[in-house]
Amino acid sequence: MKIINTIEEMQQVSQNERYVQKSIGFVPTMGFLHEGHGTLIREAKKQNEIVVVSIFVNPLQFGPNEDFDAYPRDIARDEAIAKELGVDYLFYPTTEEMYKKNRTTLITVERRVDVLCGKSRPGHFDGVATVVMKLFHIVMPHNAYFGMKDAQQVAVLEGLIADYHLLVNLVRVNTVREEDGLAKSSRNVYLSDQERAVAPFLFQALQKGKNKMLQGEAIPVIKEWIAEFVEENTKAELDYIEILSYPNLEKLDSLEEVDGIIIAIAAKFSKARLIDNLVFSYQKGEQ
Ligand code: PAF
Repeated sequence: MKIINTIEEMQQVSQNERYVQKSIGFVPTMGFLHEGHGTLIREAKKQNEIVVVSIFVNPLQFGPNEDFDAYPRDIARDEAIAKELGVDYLFYPTTEEMYKKNRTTLITVERRVDVLCGKSRPGHFDGVATVVMKLFHIVMPHNAYFGMKDAQQVAVLEGLIADYHLLVNLVRVNTVREEDGLAKSSRNVYLSDQERAVAPFLFQALQKGKNKMLQGEAIPVIKEWIAEFVEENTKAELDYIEILSYPNLEKLDSLEEVDGIIIAIAAKFSKARLIDNLVFSYQKGEQ
């Protein structure tokens, strides 16, 4: 595995790989690699000849009250994990390398951001879209891998790719779950034993909500039912429960006309805020 720190070298390497007709799979990360990243990297390995992983904690996507400095970092551990997973190039630039002084432009995301987690994080997705646009131009991947656990991020980036006619294929990778259904997350370690035991009820609530939708139950009734189910079984504080079109993330008027549906949930336990979602098609009923 080769570690690359400069934009110039990364672009040169990607150009060379493309010149010899190699397909490039890309997994952008902010480091502190966990099993979710492992799944994305394994998927990229299956579908491409070359895999590039980037590690860059992007200051632009942190709000003033979100602690950019406290974001966990461990490059030695990340290097070992990436190597073990068979990554070909690890792109690890400094903030100065990525953001030169006197920046002239910034991408603004105009849709798909006023709901779910975007609602409480103004500017967050502008930062994500800007850095991903830059990374796509640096790494020049054929395929880029993103987890559906962050379904809103996927929706925003699919919009970015379409708006700017980017020649990148975004691959949606399904959420990886524990055996009892709980979505894997680095935050799960902050749950107490008792909270960990009831946390899978979030996924059960989504599944039961989906079944109710497919049976034709009205959306407000389903949302209320899910809220009660979560409250009764977990005692967690519900941040939101939303049922929207996917990937547009708009209110659902007619179920037949939308590509997909998302049921998304965020709930606060004593020391962890967990999110989860199900994306499915109304016609096929599948995720
Ligand atoms: O999902 C993440 O880790 C980040 O938002 C991303 C896509 C690497 C951009 O900084």
